[in-house]
Amino acid sequence: MAPILKQHVADAAASGAPPPSDEFRLSDFDLTIRNGTVTNADATFRADIGIVDGRIAAIADRLPAGAHDIDASERLVLPGGIDSHCHVEQISSNGVMTADDFESATVSAAFGGTTTIIPFAAQHRGMALPAVVADYHACAGPKAVIDYGFHLIVSDPTETALTVDLPALIRQGYTSFKVYMTYDKLKLDDYQMLDVLDTASTHGALVMVHAENNDMIKWIAQRLLARGHTAPKYHAVSHDPLAESEATHRVIALARLTDTPVLIVHVSGRDAVRTIRAAQTLGARVYGETCPQYLFLTAADIDRPGLDGAMFCCSPPPRDAASQEAVWEGLANGTFQVYSSDHAPYRYDETGKLPKGAATTFKDMANGVPGLELRLPLLFSEGVGRGRLSLQQFVALTATNHARMYGLAHRKGAIAVGLDADICLWDAGREVTVAAASLHDRVGYTPYEGRALRGWPVTVINRGRVVVADGRLLAERGSGMFVSRRTPGPVAMARTPSPQTQLFKSLTAR
Ligand code: URP
Ligand code: ZN
Ligand code: ZN
Repeated sequence: MAPILKQHVADAAASGAPPPSDEFRLSDFDLTIRNGTVTNADATFRADIGIVDGRIAAIADRLPAGAHDIDASERLVLPGGIDSHCHVEQISSNGVMTADDFESATVSAAFGGTTTIIPFAAQHRGMALPAVVADYHACAGPKAVIDYGFHLIVSDPTETALTVDLPALIRQGYTSFKVYMTYDKLKLDDYQMLDVLDTASTHGALVMVHAENNDMIKWIAQRLLARGHTAPKYHAVSHDPLAESEATHRVIALARLTDTPVLIVHVSGRDAVRTIRAAQTLGARVYGETCPQYLFLTAADIDRPGLDGAMFCCSPPPRDAASQEAVWEGLANGTFQVYSSDHAPYRYDETGKLPKGAATTFKDMANGVPGLELRLPLLFSEGVGRGRLSLQQFVALTATNHARMYGLAHRKGAIAVGLDADICLWDAGREVTVAAASLHDRVGYTPYEGRALRGWPVTVINRGRVVVADGRLLAERGSGMFVSRRTPGPVAMARTPSPQTQLFKSLTAR
């Protein structure tokens, strides 16, 4: 038995497993998972799990066989991963379509132990939000093999968007939206940001923020390009850590002014981590997300011959060893609630990273790296395996907290009676050397090529359907379902705004 599994079996025995159950008869269950080491964010125990109609119907020490049985005695039984930040069939700010569609992205996610994704329905300027959402449904519905929701991307907060469309969409289950402080074609100014935050606060949505100072980045980039510094490595130079920490500080102030919770996504730099931590210490409702690229890559990875570094370019860029350390620390000490992939898949050719072929500069490339499939294996191997994170923190960071943060906890994120049977059977001892050729996305490379990992998902179940088993895809195209989301946890949290905020809110109430 793998050492990690052995340790958790021992923990399970100590914590007291649920009692045997004789109230279920043979074949009551569509599927029974037997003898597994079940791990939730708050407990680990040995148990059988009985599944009926896609939901968990029973958890007990011993349950009768179901119509199908899976022996999980050498497995960790984890809640299926939830990836709450990925870009699928989305056109980037410079007009490039992602390499993955909803079929390849969800297949890739499933092979990596993820059973729900929340990508974006992205509004570009001039588009009406309801039409944007309808378009993404038309793309996802026939193709997805696992469940999905949508965040909105709001780039055009018109009066109609703010007062009609967003309130209606929030009521329909799109309870979070991402806004950008950078990219000329997406960015909101501070005034618009306040409008969006106020709308979120009034109607109950969570705002996710891409926090980078657009002018700082543009100003440096223009000087670099003017002097002939065009290689991918200059992407990291132009996205200075101060651009990230300044914007992080600024949006936290805007959020506090409007008493609205915010989640800063894809945090990369040590200063930004400290800024978020400081605000949390003051009691501000500020939350953080980080991604594999900030734990496992640095700016040195971008410094490669020719244009090869383009495969490692994302925004914000990977930083340095000190930032990596700060990000690991932030995962362990609770500064970050969620760990997502920010899967932004672009091929290393004219369709993605190299729109101008050999003449492509760092400013022309589509930003983003793939990560849907390796998100869990990377964190398990290097986080749990090396003792940086507990197994329960791993579950919280990859599944449970995403459900709480984004209004999915009524269905997903834990192994509990009544919830969807979204389950990942994990082989803690399996050793895998990462190779792009073995992955299921359509990107053609991975920034993690050649890494040796220990721990791998072997059976992945979504709403009781076995989607992946022993390296084979068993789910039909289009069998994933849209999940409507409820009020995000941070929004539902009761609290009293500061006296200043109360005063200006009362003076300006409509
Ligand atoms: O480089 C990235 N992260 N590309 C995807 C778009 C975004 O900002 O999340
Ligand atoms: Zn972003
Ligand atoms: Zn992103």
